[in-house]
Amino acid sequence: MKLVKRKFPKTRLRRTRMKSFSRKMVSENNLTANDVIWPVFLTEENKSKTEIKALPSVYRYPIELLLKDLEQPIAQGLNAVALFPHITDDKKDEEGSYAFSPNNLIFKAVKRIKQEYPNIGVICDVALDPYTTHAHDGIIRNNEVDNDKSLEKLVEQALLLADAGADILAPSDMMDGRVGRIRTSLEKKEYHNTMIMSYAAKYASSLYGPFREAVNAGILVKPKNKKSYQMDISNIHEAMHEISMDINEGADMIMIKPGLPYLDVISRAKELFSIPTFAYQVSGEYSMIMSAVYNNHIKESDIIIETMLCFKRAGANGIFTYFAPKILNLLSKNN
Ligand code: PBG
Repeated sequence: MKLVKRKFPKTRLRRTRMKSFSRKMVSENNLTANDVIWPVFLTEENKSKTEIKALPSVYRYPIELLLKDLEQPIAQGLNAVALFPHITDDKKDEEGSYAFSPNNLIFKAVKRIKQEYPNIGVICDVALDPYTTHAHDGIIRNNEVDNDKSLEKLVEQALLLADAGADILAPSDMMDGRVGRIRTSLEKKEYHNTMIMSYAAKYASSLYGPFREAVNAGILVKPKNKKSYQMDISNIHEAMHEISMDINEGADMIMIKPGLPYLDVISRAKELFSIPTFAYQVSGEYSMIMSAVYNNHIKESDIIIETMLCFKRAGANGIFTYFAPKILNLLSKNN
């Protein structure tokens, strides 16, 4: 970038900031309904929707009630949802068998959403953690999450999700080689157009805590954290390495996670790879914001829009956010 040498008072940057119309004329980023993806939690447990304690205004939905609550956001322009299951303990085991059970909660939900709203994009997580008793994303062997054994299971899960009609598979498990194996298996089954959005740079973050409550992922026992597969928080070069591998293996889009504290990773990835890049404003970020809002330290609508514009400025093509319904309300009010 060339530095402009013009000086005050020939240049007063406040001139364009002075009025609303000129601020709008020079604004570099905009937020639209197309930018938000709504992650939703599904349950078979209750007949009504239940609020998640750590995530105020975020609910676990029985399928039919989610369909009802999708109506307004879709009318306001919601383009895609990401589905996460809340599974009760009695359905969990070491291998996450319920993830492969025909007609399970997620398969049913994908089909119903597609029936009711054929144009909405449905994104499904590929990972076993909501289904396993140990709450890890893969299969445990010798007290370790076994990469290659997990791959077999994750590929099987991915194909079943594609069978159910998922538009985008989002492997969030961070096993090596998963994107390539899933892509090859999809091609073999002639799912040429099923997209893969890889959680390419997913960090071993403390910000997923409330999500684990939301999906009833118990306490991680052996191993007691996900550091052997999720990325070290201090690394960015490794993130670029991961992303380049996932792209070479067949990812159509990539995801960086968590969100706001990781904007450097988004912007570097976008610059280096020019591939559709998504951000996930994760559960811990949502909880922190809501705590400040409830204490009247920050105004909710302002902080939500500010965070979204920060993601856009960093280069995100879209943002997974639990604020999606609120954002769509705000956007439709402003129009
Ligand atoms: C599952 C998964 C997690 C999240 C999305 N998919 C949790 C984890 O990896 O422990 C976190 C999302 C959030 O915190 O909002 N692999």
